[in-house]
Amino acid sequence: MEGVEWFHTIDLGDGLVTPGKDETFRKLEWLALPESLESRSVLDVGAWDGFFSFEAERRGAERVLATDSFAWEEPAWGPKGWGTRAGFDLAHRALKSKVEARGIDVLDLDPETIGTFDLVLFLGVLYHLPHPLLGLEKVASVCSNQLILETHVDLLDLGRPAMAFYPGEALAGDDSNWWGPNMKALEAMLRYVGFTRVEVVHREARRYRFARAAYRRMRGPRFRAQQGRCAVHAWK
Ligand SMILES: C[S@@+](CC[C@H](N)C(=O)[O-])C[C@H]1O[C@@H](n2cnc3c(N)ncnc32)[C@H](O)[C@@H]1O
Repeated sequence: MEGVEWFHTIDLGDGLVTPGKDETFRKLEWLALPESLESRSVLDVGAWDGFFSFEAERRGAERVLATDSFAWEEPAWGPKGWGTRAGFDLAHRALKSKVEARGIDVLDLDPETIGTFDLVLFLGVLYHLPHPLLGLEKVASVCSNQLILETHVDLLDLGRPAMAFYPGEALAGDDSNWWGPNMKALEAMLRYVGFTRVEVVHREARRYRFARAAYRRMRGPRFRAQQGRCAVHAWK
């Protein structure tokens, strides 16, 4: 486990838990992932260390495919260049997992090459895409039934569909962040790419966003009250 910079907190068994930088378990709560995924096929797009792929397998999914691009490629990904595939491979071995893994960019997702999946997980990836609507179209093309999407959002108090654009390092000093849609834009984009029902399963309360913005202003990179995270389920 040493030498790996973990994004996900993964219980590898025998008392070994990876020291992930992200809030893996909080995110899992937001997602409302079905308790049982028995007989379902699952695609985890932008899987990184693979926590959500392994969790889908643990919940009984028949087939799980994990895909990623930047974090699994050289040079290492992220503002400090710490994203690699080493964590996924190590956890895969430790868990004796049958999750399949392929290096595929979102824009190269294609039903002709990977098939379609009952459930697609698209978590923490949308805002990293320079072309988010095109990316969503590609994601929809490999989804036969349900999508679970988790993302950064912005302009939350604006009553019209809109997306904030982050040129350079304008969001949290990370030049891999491009866009922050608001809820209305997200829902409209999902319908545009072919989902007929969209249900918001997690959004941060306004008072929480304002309290966090004030706290962050004193301590770290600026995070505005208009910004937050959300999770949605969408069906074809
Ligand atoms: C913030 S991490 C989210 C990881 C995981 N899905 C989660 O929610 O915990 C973003 C991931 O998206 C991947 N990613 C970013 N742009 C991508 C693209 N164009 N195609 C495939 N993966 C991409 C990164 O490599 C990274 O693994």
